[in-house]
Amino acid sequence: MHIDLSGRTALVTGAATGIGRATALALGEAGANLVANHLGRPEDAAELVHELERAGGRALAIEADVSDAAQVARLIGEAEAHFGAVDVLVNNAGILLEKPFLDMSEEDWDRVLNTDLKSVFLCCRAALPGMLKRGRGCIVNVASELGYLGRAGYAAYTTAKGGVITLTRSLAREFAPTVRVNAVAPGPVATDMLDTSVMSPEMIRKEADIPLGRVGRPEEIAGTVVFLASEQASFYCGQILSPNGGALMA
Ligand SMILES: NC(=O)c1ccc[n+]([C@@H]2O[C@H](COP(=O)([O-])OP(=O)(O)OC[C@H]3O[C@@H](n4cnc5c(N)ncnc54)[C@H](O)[C@@H]3O)[C@@H](O)[C@H]2O)c1
Repeated sequence: MHIDLSGRTALVTGAATGIGRATALALGEAGANLVANHLGRPEDAAELVHELERAGGRALAIEADVSDAAQVARLIGEAEAHFGAVDVLVNNAGILLEKPFLDMSEEDWDRVLNTDLKSVFLCCRAALPGMLKRGRGCIVNVASELGYLGRAGYAAYTTAKGGVITLTRSLAREFAPTVRVNAVAPGPVATDMLDTSVMSPEMIRKEADIPLGRVGRPEEIAGTVVFLASEQASFYCGQILSPNGGALMA
């Protein structure tokens, strides 16, 4: 299957590392112009842009906190001004907080919900008008298997990811057929968020205790995102695809 996104512009939030970085590279490889959003990682973002350009693509790094409405408006505005459009929006940026529920402060809750859920609202709200005006667009949100399962010690994160799943379905219904909105709900993936280099062997064993017997690689999530962003997924609407090693079968 050959995926061709040439002539399209894709914006990936939190693109400097992990799943976002792998997704940006895979979208670039498929021919898309790439807007790499990052927060406080100018060197990683610049390196990503160079890698995309070395491969013959066009790319632009834009720093913005996606939990802040004014910064998101600037992000989408600069992306549209530079490339003429945002055709594909990948809401990937996120943070994880492990904390017993009764120790969680209001600030903890707001920080996680704002970064992991409100950001998706803000980015979609800013990018959708242009997509509707141009008569086409595609949004892929990065949720998590934990958005279905919940997990002790992760109430804010799992609530946010559950919200991303439902928001995906609501937006898919509201903006079809012009804009297709879908999501991925990955299982455990080796990134800064799940840094296996600093985890105890017991923790790694616990994370890898799924049918495929290992944690995933960022590229294994990126492929699903690129598929959903492509014409090959033209009949997918409001779907949550689950590259999760079999952690959850639904
Ligand atoms: N790693 C996993 O096991 C796993 C599993 C399921 C879902 N996810 C989701 O995948 C996405 C990517 O995470 P990852 O695993 O690649 O970890 P990561 O920490 O490498 O990536 C997260 C990125 O988001 C950026 N970011 C954080 N807050 C931001 C903000 N306010 N504005 C802009 N950027 C911001 C970070 O700088 C970082 O580059 C997240 O949404 C995460 O919840 C990860």
